[in-house]
Amino acid sequence: MTLMTNEKQLSTTNLPKLEKVPTHVAIIMDGNGRWAKQRGLPRSEGHRQGTENLRRIIRGAVEFGVQVMTIYAFSTENWSRPRREVMLLMRILEMVIDRELRELHDEGVQIRHIGELDGIEPRLARKVKQACEYTKDNQRLILNVAFNYGGRDEIVHAVQEIVRDGIHADEITEETISNYIYTSDLPDPDLIIRTSGEFRLSNFLIWQGAYSEIYTTPTYWPDFDKAEFHKALTEYGNRRRRFGKTDEQIDNEA
Ligand code: FPP
Repeated sequence: MTLMTNEKQLSTTNLPKLEKVPTHVAIIMDGNGRWAKQRGLPRSEGHRQGTENLRRIIRGAVEFGVQVMTIYAFSTENWSRPRREVMLLMRILEMVIDRELRELHDEGVQIRHIGELDGIEPRLARKVKQACEYTKDNQRLILNVAFNYGGRDEIVHAVQEIVRDGIHADEITEETISNYIYTSDLPDPDLIIRTSGEFRLSNFLIWQGAYSEIYTTPTYWPDFDKAEFHKALTEYGNRRRRFGKTDEQIDNEA
């Protein structure tokens, strides 16, 4: 047991320097429930461990030089989970803000929220806004917390705003939509990671993710440690992004 721990520590502290770091990494933190079930524990314990892991991965992102990270914490579809679990996920967000805000701030993390705050309990919505306001000048890592977020919902919202602003149909381009989504001032994700062996986007960043590289791993989120994160970033570094072009064109550009 001791040996395993030492090996693990060694493998996470001596990680090789990454050649190419994605600017924006988005993560679907999946598998908390199955992680708990596998151990005969309640789902709540899976979420608790998932939250602990989130702290580690945020620190890893800062260390590896990722500039923007977007995490899928609660989707518009998650409202259909049992009421107790919905309440728990709300409580976790509140707890993270209460307990981690100062440290995240000291580490230079700028917290942003993407999704709808309408429909969330006013006290929590207020805390989310305060956390965003408190950290708004931090520059080391922008952390988008997708909470009560849905990709289709985001696009509907963008279209509604475009119409409200009186923009004529003929003037609407892809750029217009990009300017009206939640992440309008940020680059699209270079890499989307999904844990727990699922291969879906599940309504996450469906506009922004059009050309994202996707990395999946069977590892459940609570076990997706810094070494695994590093592995995902390394694999990203070995991918060739063509954005619809041919290999030859990319070679010529290089
Ligand atoms: C998916 O696992 C995970 C979620 C729906 C919630 C993710 C939340 C955390 C990692 C905690 C951090 C949260 C906040 C609010 C900052 P699942 O429950 O769907 O797992 P399963 O597919 O194995 O059942």
